Amino acid sequence: MKKIVSLFGLLLMAVASWAQVSYDVIPLPKSVQLSPKGESYMLAQGAVVTYDGQNPTLASDAQLLVNYLKATAGLNLKAQPDVKKGAAIELKIKNEKSKSNSENTEAYQLTVDKRGVTILGASGEAVFRGIQTLVKSIGVEPGTEVSLPYVTIQDEPRFPYRGVHFDCARHYFSVDFIKQFLDIMALHGCNNFHWHLTEDQGWRFEVKSMPELAMKGSVRKQTVIGRNTGLYDGTPYGGYYTQQECREIVDYAAKRFINVIPEIDLPGHMLGALHVFPELGCTGGPYEVWPIWGVSRDVLCAGNPGTLEFLKKVLDEVADVFPSKYIHIGGDESPRDRWKQCPKCQAKMKELGLKKEAELQTYINKELEAYMQKKGRDLIGWDETLEGGLSEKAIVMSWRGTKGGIAAARQHHRVIMTPTDYCYIDYYQLKDHGSQPLGIGGYLPVSKVYSFEPTAGLGEEEAKYILGPQVNLWTEYVGYPQHAMYMLLPRLDAMSEVQWMASDKKDFEAFQGRLPRMLKLYDKLGYSYCHKVE
Ligand code: ACM
Ligand code: ZN
Repeated sequence: MKKIVSLFGLLLMAVASWAQVSYDVIPLPKSVQLSPKGESYMLAQGAVVTYDGQNPTLASDAQLLVNYLKATAGLNLKAQPDVKKGAAIELKIKNEKSKSNSENTEAYQLTVDKRGVTILGASGEAVFRGIQTLVKSIGVEPGTEVSLPYVTIQDEPRFPYRGVHFDCARHYFSVDFIKQFLDIMALHGCNNFHWHLTEDQGWRFEVKSMPELAMKGSVRKQTVIGRNTGLYDGTPYGGYYTQQECREIVDYAAKRFINVIPEIDLPGHMLGALHVFPELGCTGGPYEVWPIWGVSRDVLCAGNPGTLEFLKKVLDEVADVFPSKYIHIGGDESPRDRWKQCPKCQAKMKELGLKKEAELQTYINKELEAYMQKKGRDLIGWDETLEGGLSEKAIVMSWRGTKGGIAAARQHHRVIMTPTDYCYIDYYQLKDHGSQPLGIGGYLPVSKVYSFEPTAGLGEEEAKYILGPQVNLWTEYVGYPQHAMYMLLPRLDAMSEVQWMASDKKDFEAFQGRLPRMLKLYDKLGYSYCHKVE
């Protein structure tokens, strides 16, 4: 009897020291074929991750895989190039000849068999996506070894654009936190970080030709308490990103195959800049970096030639620091009140034969677009930029519902869908607002994010113009990393399945079943999240 008990104990210990692997991750891969015989490969401490030593992208991928598995599963693996025999994990890029023209550049195959794990991707980026699937599959169970069931996973994303927006202007977030934010994005297969850098409440991008812009424009004297209560905290608030820091972030993101799209929001949301250069406003100021929330009537003067000169100087440096093909020029919530009253703006309208003030915004956009096209960049604008007519290359970011995006796609403009009702994660995620950290209002539970269909209302041909969906995190009421993560997670899990999976494969109940594994990862990695799902 004693023997049986001790045998049983040994067996239990053995089971407990193996990690519980499951390929039911978020977002769920396109196809997961487990071997019917149920065999497993044992991944042991000290195992080797190998790759083609001639390929620096794979070297970076391999090192990141080692780092991730150390942080999540406590595994000590070694990245070693060109190991011919005995490596546990091999990272490979398909050779050109075996690729078809139509192949998704992010498509990968992850196999586990008796030789170990192989991630074969159409590109280094594809291999990186497969790495995320492996990391999530292994999870966090403490163990000295990992038993990986034999499997063949075929995977590729539905949308080429899978965005997350982050407002670092209402509140400043550290470079270290932005790196963590990028890791969270990478874990969810997201590939575009829309970085909102300028606002009424602070200008946060260093412009070397105008150093006072960030130095003075980033600081508000104080911040209103709560929702424009009229009470202030009496504490100066500031912070901006040097170009060196921006480059560091771009580089960190690039290694995770995330493109950084900077946004300079214009011609509204400009009090940070107007405080420093009051002559660029219709009234001449003075203007203060705004201590309250909302939409300011003070915007850049469209009739002052200095405005375009200023914007071009800013965009020169933006383009220099950010290699992104797409540059965001905002365009939302720019009231026409000042333009209606301003002799310079009215004279400009006359000169150009414009009938409505809205067309002044189009005039600015077109000038900037021509300027940026010469640098090989395409512009993105919020859907208000549709109002005065758009050039062919411009991309519309549809936030006031999907109507703008649908109209733009029908005109064959490329579109990013981020309607407030499904994508604004500054809204509350639980019905009981009082029980959670502050949100801007509204109610956007995980289930509603999950239900979003970005191409609804469009025919097959028009739907091709939808680059993809994005969640937006505005930060009027979000001042700290823990709060930002709480707003993001697990709504980003829901969005990642909208971004990644075919719509007919989505299943909210099954998603909820997959979620606890992700939450364990968040616990292990120190990410805050909302514990309840509605
Ligand atoms: C926006 O939410 N104002 C784009
Ligand atoms: Zn004006």
